[in-house]
This record gives sequence, structure tokens and C-alpha cells, in this order.
Amino acid sequence: MAGPPEEPRDRYIELIKGALQFSLWPQPPRPVASFELLWATPARSLALRLLRLASRLLETKGLLIAKDVRPDPERLEQGEVWPWPNYGETMIGPRRMDNLEHCVRSVIEEEVPGDLIETGVWRGGACIFMRAILAAYGVSDRTVFVADSFEGLPPPSPDTPEDDGSRFHEMKGLRIDLESVKENFRKYGLLDDQVVFLRGWFSDTLPVAPIEKIAVLRLDGDMYSSTMDSLENLHPKVSPGGFVIIDDYCLEPCRAAVTDYRKRHEIEDEMVRIDEAAVFWRRAA
Ligand SMILES: C[S@@+](CC[C@H](N)C(=O)[O-])C[C@H]1O[C@@H](n2cnc3c(N)ncnc32)[C@H](O)[C@@H]1O
Repeated sequence: MAGPPEEPRDRYIELIKGALQFSLWPQPPRPVASFELLWATPARSLALRLLRLASRLLETKGLLIAKDVRPDPERLEQGEVWPWPNYGETMIGPRRMDNLEHCVRSVIEEEVPGDLIETGVWRGGACIFMRAILAAYGVSDRTVFVADSFEGLPPPSPDTPEDDGSRFHEMKGLRIDLESVKENFRKYGLLDDQVVFLRGWFSDTLPVAPIEKIAVLRLDGDMYSSTMDSLENLHPKVSPGGFVIIDDYCLEPCRAAVTDYRKRHEIEDEMVRIDEAAVFWRRAA
């Protein structure tokens, strides 16, 4: 097994990657108040509601009810952390974090021009990681764009039947407000003017985003519409040699958007699998 990296830069990157995933510590039990009721059976939903009520009463005494949920390490390795971890700033799992590190390091080391952007950031962990890698390399002429509604996913639109039946917009756990995401950057000492927040629906913010060239484009908006809005507005700005990462390729609507977009624009860059969920490609140089 490889030991820890020797260079201070690599040590910092490794440490921050672990901290953002909360993988440096055992997962603490999960408070019942954080469980989503959306997919629970009626009986389970009732039991959870009662437990939450009891937990709220106990909170007045400094106690809470929590469940010991430890992710299976093998599933975690494949990025199967759904619904999402209670702790940590990202839900993308170790292989996708390694892939992001590879992409950002490559564009810096090979001087591929452009900024870095993620569309769909949740608690901000993947964007914080990109900013950290820029800091580790002393790069001051690239920006990390952080695009999100900061209020969860949109309901499915009649214009995109591929999203019919989507219930992501009902999930409270996916709604992370802007101030909380900023606070996450701040606590890692990485909130500065190299971080720009694009707040709102992608269909509104991305067409007018002040971005000229992109070196790393990371898509994590789950739905057909979110994926297509990101590709239509941002893919043409990706530099030759730049990377395009599709976090949700395992989801049928996202996959359909990628297939439609690549076909329409005759993109033949080879798609490479990252883990069970995600793929990436590199634009031909
Ligand atoms: C699965 S989470 C992203 C996970 C994140 N990349 C991480 O590192 O953990 C999806 C995010 O996409 C955002 N989102 C999805 N579709 C959107 C849209 N059309 N406009 C704005 N935000 C959107 C949601 O608000 C949510 O924060």
C-alpha cells in the first residue's frame, strides 16, 4: 500500500480531500431528524415522525435520537453514498474526488487555459476541493465558479418529458442555502475573490455567466434539463485539452441529455468511466 505523499502540496491536497469527505473520522450516528420521508413506506414514515417528535422533546434536555448508519466501504468506494452523507461537504465519493483532482492537476500542469466550474454543488465540497488545488499550486489567475439555485432542484418541466416523475425537488436535504456553502468555503480558509457564486436556475444564470474559457466543467445537476442547460451553455467554452465530468451518468435522464447533446454536436471525445455513477471526457487538443 502506498504511504502518504511526501511533498507538502500533495499532503495538503490529500488531507483536504479526506476532510471534505469526512473520511478521516468514523461516521457518527445520524440524527433521525435528518432522514428524508420521501421514499418511506407509510408505516416507516409514521415511525420516523414519532421518533422525530420524541427527539425534538429530548433536544430540550441536550439529547437526541440518532441511528448508527455506517456506509459499506465497498459501496462507498464506488460512490454509492445515496441518499447522501450526513457529514462532510460532498457526496461524490472517493473515486470521483480522485478524478476531479486528476483533472484539475492536469490542466494546471499542462497549462490548459480556463476557469473551473461545477453546476450543482450541494454543500460545495467539490468546488472547495478545486479551489484548494489552485491554492496548493499557487494559481491566482483562475476562478472557481459555483453554480446552484441554493434551494434544491427545479420541479420537472413539461418541456422536458425526460424528467417526468422526478421528485428531487421535494428533497429537503438537497436544498443548501448560499450562506451555508459560503461558510463551508470559509471554514477551509478558501473563500476569496477567486470563488464566484452563480445563484439561480441554470437556465437563467449560465447563459449570462461571466466565463470566457473553461478548463474543467463538472456537471452534477441530476436531471435532463439541468444537464442539458449546463452542456448547451458551457460545453462550447471548454478549451481543447479541458475536461468534462458528468457526475450523474448513471441516472437515465442525465444520460439521455449527454447522449442527445453529444449526438447533436457530433462530439466524439472518448467517454471514460470513473465509478458506478460517473463518466468524463477530455476535449480533443
Ligand atoms: C446532487 S447535488 C450536487 C452534489 C455536489 N456536486 C457534491 O459535491 O456533493 C445537486 C445540486 O444541483 C442543484 N441543481 C440541480 N439542478 C439545478 C438547476 N437547474 N439550477 C440550479 N441548481 C440546480 C441542486 O440545488 C443541488 O445542490
